[in-house]
Amino acid sequence: MKGIILAGGAGTRLHPVTLAVSKQLVPVYNKPMIYYPLSVLMLADITDILIITTPTDLPAFRRLLGDGSWLGLTIDYAEQPEPNGLAEAFLIGADHIGDEDCALILGDNIFHGPGFSQLLQDKAHDLKGCVLFGYPVSDPHRHGIGEVDENGNLVSLEEKPANPKSNRAVTGLYFYDNDVVQFARSLEPSARGELEITDLNRIYLERGRATVVDLGRGFAWLDTGTHDSLLDAGQYVRTLEERQGVRIACLEEIALRRGFISPQQCYDLGERMGNSGYAKYVMEIARSAGAGRN
Ligand code: G1P
Repeated sequence: MKGIILAGGAGTRLHPVTLAVSKQLVPVYNKPMIYYPLSVLMLADITDILIITTPTDLPAFRRLLGDGSWLGLTIDYAEQPEPNGLAEAFLIGADHIGDEDCALILGDNIFHGPGFSQLLQDKAHDLKGCVLFGYPVSDPHRHGIGEVDENGNLVSLEEKPANPKSNRAVTGLYFYDNDVVQFARSLEPSARGELEITDLNRIYLERGRATVVDLGRGFAWLDTGTHDSLLDAGQYVRTLEERQGVRIACLEEIALRRGFISPQQCYDLGERMGNSGYAKYVMEIARSAGAGRN
């Protein structure tokens, strides 16, 4: 399965923070925002990843993540010059996807919860149609909202409905089979001139090939769209990290645990990073995995 991170847009709700910096590069506590969605793809065992962003921001993402080889990944970049909608990712990314399945994650979505890695790998395996990830929210009019039957099959889907039929938001993580490219090509721009992800998902829905996996209680799906929600997300990460002494979305740790890099490579990454607490953590987990013991 291939992966795409969509990190475009102007982030207007975060101005002036995002006037000179891409929204997906601003910090969520101690890491750039894109670390969080990238960690989700890595947890799903996806190693071939395309980052789609604006022509202005692309060099900064490349400076941060390079070609991904330091994490045992292949990371490529593509431009989305205009905000033409989330589903445009599959037109821009058609060559990257080739004849494989594809996971799309929005670059500002933060997920954290128990058993997530296993869940992702189960759903990515032998994928048919599309898998959406649902999450209960208190403000359904601000999201894509899905209704499901007792088997988890999607029966209705609406984008930011005035009168929501449920409180089940469709989060910004989507698994698709290879038909997604062909379906995206058939989309017409919506009233606001965009290729809508919800219209794409509706094509799967109409064919009875869309399922929803609920991320239930005890799971965090965090918003980063406003100054307040961004701060809340940072506080959430800080609270858990301080309390447990672990790191959320530490890319080096995930690469190590998934076997993408060796303990020694992991140690070297931490050492090269310098003096931050993050760098020390990376060296520590590498050491406890056996780095420097020969
Ligand atoms: C997009 C989707 C929406 C989804 C949300 C998740 O909306 O259109 O269906 O619920 O992402 O983050 P946006 O937040 O881009 O307005």
